[in-house]
Amino acid sequence: MQKFIVNGGKKLKGVIEIKGAKNNSLKILAASLLTNKPVRIMNVPEVEDVKRMVEIIAELGVKIKHVKNGEYEIWAKEIIDHSINSEAAKKLRASIVLTAPLLARLGKVKFPHPGGCVIGERPIDIFLEGYRALGAKVNYKKDLYEITAPRLVGTKFVFRTPTVTGTESMILAASIAKGETVLKNCACEPEVKSLADFLNSCGAKISGAGTHEIIIKGVDKLKGGAHRTIPDRVEAGSFAILAAATNSEITIMNCEPEHLDSLLELLKKAGAKLQKRKNSIKIIPSKIKSLDIKTHEYPGFPTDLQAPFCVLLTQSKGSGLVHETIYEGRLTWTEELKRMGADIHTFDPHRIGIKGPTKLRGREIESPDIRAGMAYLIAALCAKGKSTINNVYQIDRGYEKIEERLRKIGADIHRI
Ligand code: EPU
Repeated sequence: MQKFIVNGGKKLKGVIEIKGAKNNSLKILAASLLTNKPVRIMNVPEVEDVKRMVEIIAELGVKIKHVKNGEYEIWAKEIIDHSINSEAAKKLRASIVLTAPLLARLGKVKFPHPGGCVIGERPIDIFLEGYRALGAKVNYKKDLYEITAPRLVGTKFVFRTPTVTGTESMILAASIAKGETVLKNCACEPEVKSLADFLNSCGAKISGAGTHEIIIKGVDKLKGGAHRTIPDRVEAGSFAILAAATNSEITIMNCEPEHLDSLLELLKKAGAKLQKRKNSIKIIPSKIKSLDIKTHEYPGFPTDLQAPFCVLLTQSKGSGLVHETIYEGRLTWTEELKRMGADIHTFDPHRIGIKGPTKLRGREIESPDIRAGMAYLIAALCAKGKSTINNVYQIDRGYEKIEERLRKIGADIHRI
């Protein structure tokens, strides 16, 4: 098992480039199975979750080629299996999105309850309701779901709660269903819009993606195409927070600042100095004051940036309340942050209070999931002394060669 050794407490400086969005790439990979023509995807991050998704797709009998760094070619001329590999699917939540193209193209799909980050219950009831609304039948036997539908039929469906992968799966399924589908209370994340843009470029008829109401006019077939994924807004946001927490000057290149409005507004309110350009953000060292944050669906403050922001609050003056509204298990990682010296009071599974600034001390830590792993990395870079971060597979799931990129801006970090 690989680990990172970090010697913290140093100021960082320089330029860091943002990779393509993991949570966009995984869905474009899945969407490529809707057509029997070739698809090319560019700006794909070389992260573990993408590798697992590629393995699952290849096992279905789909031709998938890693053309070069960040680029894949997929040709789902034939799909020979309708069962998603259970072991791989348990490693990532995004595997659930594959159920939509398999159901739409083959009329059946078999899969286990998907895995992924242990941050809460993460049910799939809304997916099942959605597929049923499109005319499918759902069975659950021996730990596997089996969904069947000779041809999906357009419907009106209201999401009980806005779900990102749920919205994406329903868009995929409805794209080649018979007739029109109207989806309400949809997730508005930029990754959803990018997915619809890709499908439209292949001949789908989707309007409204990026808003709460999406209308999909089903077509019989999709063509092939090419798509460049959007920059990873969580990665960009994490580096902006890292700069503020370590009082460093860092320029974040190849990002989409508009996708980070909620974070950048909060940082400014907290006293951070920043310069926003079309595709870059520069964070300039400044004194940070604490404030309260509450996670919310896009365009609100992203739950995926909650953990890094908590570390920033340990370095800020005053007290801040963190309210995690999306997941019931996404604050447990802060127990270890307390052991590093943070002054944190846990009110309930959704709310903690953080007082700062506190001096963090290096420690041996276990990375529990992608985003908490990144937060520990930021904490280790702020802390005095040496930290060992175990289970870096969790960080590698979402961030490409993070140690090499951090070293370029002056971080003392090594993988062993
Ligand atoms: N929910 C249900 N039933 C469902 C589906 C969702 O009750 O059938 C609830 C969830 O329990 C949660 C809420 O809906 O309370 C929102 O969850 P959502 O479905 O939006 O999450 P997701 O689609 O599984 C994606 C990202 C997550 C990110 C969330 C929120 C992917 C693969 N994952 O998850 O990313 O935190 O949206 O923005 O796109 C990560 O990258 O580290 C990560 C966890």
